[in-house]
Amino acid sequence: MKGIILSGGSATRLFPLTATTSKQLLPVYDRQMIFYPLNVLVKAGIKDILIIVAPEHSGHFLNLLGSIFDKNDIRLEFKVQKNPRGLADAFIVGENFIGQDNVTMILGDNIFEDDFSDEIKNFKSGAKVFAVKVPDPERSGVVVFDDQMKALKIVEKPKDRISDYAIPGLYIYDNRVVKVAKQVKPSARGEIEIVDIHNWYLDKGELAVGLVKGKWLDAGTFDSLLEAGVYVKEKKLYEKFDPIINRAIEEFNEELKIICKKRL
Ligand code: DAU
Repeated sequence: MKGIILSGGSATRLFPLTATTSKQLLPVYDRQMIFYPLNVLVKAGIKDILIIVAPEHSGHFLNLLGSIFDKNDIRLEFKVQKNPRGLADAFIVGENFIGQDNVTMILGDNIFEDDFSDEIKNFKSGAKVFAVKVPDPERSGVVVFDDQMKALKIVEKPKDRISDYAIPGLYIYDNRVVKVAKQVKPSARGEIEIVDIHNWYLDKGELAVGLVKGKWLDAGTFDSLLEAGVYVKEKKLYEKFDPIINRAIEEFNEELKIICKKRL
């Protein structure tokens, strides 16, 4: 299983904070946002991780992560997505990285309380996405269930309230996802949509939908970014991080102190 963290995009909803750095590098309480999705993948034992970034912020990601993770049995690769063409583009940008393997993709601005190690480790084939009941499903892709909780259809940000269940940004696919992504046509908003990939697997009867039990936050607006910071502080989510990540953050801090001393 390979891992992708999709961390590009233009993040206009968080402007002007995102005029100087990438959304996924903004602080969520005591650490950069990207450590949260990275933690989900590392906890699930994924060692090969591709971070897809926007061209204007690529150097910032390298500064933060470039030198620390090669020491911890985690191989990070970086790739620039020239234009934010849509979430499905991750599998085209990441085609060579994925090779013949299965892939778990997580969005760089999604924060989960749950541990998805079992779901990721036990994945065999098809696709698996997750659903979570939210008060504002119009902000997300949604899944419509029948009364047996069988998924019937998936729609990106529907105008009408057709479901209370959002699909958060954690997706597990078998290797066919690369081929499927290449077939997806741009939507009315001009993006190649991840929901078209989900629907391809759903039509084949090969889409599993799990339920998210703990909190899920998409930290893409001022309010949700603030909510995320307060939530992780109150619940002390940083204490549940994989030791590899905490060690890497500490090492980074130590290196930074040395650099600052030299500069002084
Ligand atoms: O957060 C979950 C939702 O994420 C899903 O429910 C939706 O189905 C999915 O389309 C997506 O909706 P958003 O409106 O939240 O997507 P956003 O444009 O904010 O992009 C999500 C992340 O992916 C964000 O970190 C930016 C990054 N991104 C986005 C695009 C379109 C890229 O790196 N490249 C892109 O081309």
